[in-house]
Amino acid sequence: MFNLDAIIRENVKRLKPYSSARDEFKGQADVWLDANENPFESGLNRYPDPLAIEVKKAIGKIKKIKPENIFLGNGSDEAIDLLYRAFCEPGKDKALIMPPTYGMYEVSASINDVEIFRVPLTEQFQIDLAVVKGFLNDKSIKLIFICSPNNPTGNLMSVETIKAIAMNFRGLVVVDEAYIDFAPNASLIPLLKQIPNLVILQTFSKAWGMAGIRLGMAFASIEIINILNKIKPPYNINTFTQKMALDQLTDEKAKDSSVTVILRERETLASKLGELPNVKKIYPSDANFILVEFIDPNTVYNSLVESGIIVRNRHSVVNGCLRITVGTPEENERLIEAL
Ligand SMILES: Cc1ncc(COP(=O)(O)O)c(C=O)c1O
Repeated sequence: MFNLDAIIRENVKRLKPYSSARDEFKGQADVWLDANENPFESGLNRYPDPLAIEVKKAIGKIKKIKPENIFLGNGSDEAIDLLYRAFCEPGKDKALIMPPTYGMYEVSASINDVEIFRVPLTEQFQIDLAVVKGFLNDKSIKLIFICSPNNPTGNLMSVETIKAIAMNFRGLVVVDEAYIDFAPNASLIPLLKQIPNLVILQTFSKAWGMAGIRLGMAFASIEIINILNKIKPPYNINTFTQKMALDQLTDEKAKDSSVTVILRERETLASKLGELPNVKKIYPSDANFILVEFIDPNTVYNSLVESGIIVRNRHSVVNGCLRITVGTPEENERLIEAL
């Protein structure tokens, strides 16, 4: 049922991509006079590898996927934007999201003049499959975004439901796994072999502790990755980011040990929050944050700000709720004291 060619925008199909100096000559040489760079060595005077191949090889080893199946973006936010640009005709095509969820799916759609259909999550914050099914035959819908674990609710989505949607949809199903390293379930990356219209997003901003370098990953079929590479800015991942990522990727243990601490702290924080009289409900979390319902969320939020502690006020998105990122043991202790 899925035919990639049928959903690529015509202008993207026709596009002759920019060919950079580093695209045109990839071998070894002693004298580089092809890219109008400054010749004086500073460590940063040369353009970076446009496809960041060494970084992809290192990611591929860890994620057990070929470099050709990996796209790297300036944060996963860049991948989200490029998916719209590649597959959604402005003013015509649409995307489906399941609120409450990560805000950039909708903002990026608006920037690209793509209309959004919203199918709210159920009361348990799961996908409302019966309602989503009603949209799957709409040919104008090109992208469905599923965030798992979901921001701001914190829970994983049912894998069976994700499969059922992907297998009955002509467009792409984008599963955003920004928080997957904090979840008990593994990534859906192995499903890419079975499901050709699946795109998986991950990021260095959360478990890897590198939000500052802006590096996001998309995993998908070679054909989908090639389209994203065709339309991306030529040198979207800078030299510094590539170096920092490579260093970090050789030290997966450091990432794992910080995840271990965060998971332990998540449980401690949840149980201490549970003892507070103004806490109404603590939602179970598969991520590095906890969604908490308070009797008086705005008062709590404002008094935390006064104590110098900033959480995210999600009262307007999920009634009564603040979203609290798990901090260091000391930070979490300060939060509980302030509350
Ligand atoms: C679900 C989700 N996806 C993506 C992102 C953004 O990731 P990046 O920093 O890679 O752009 C966030 C950031 O909060 C997020 O919550």
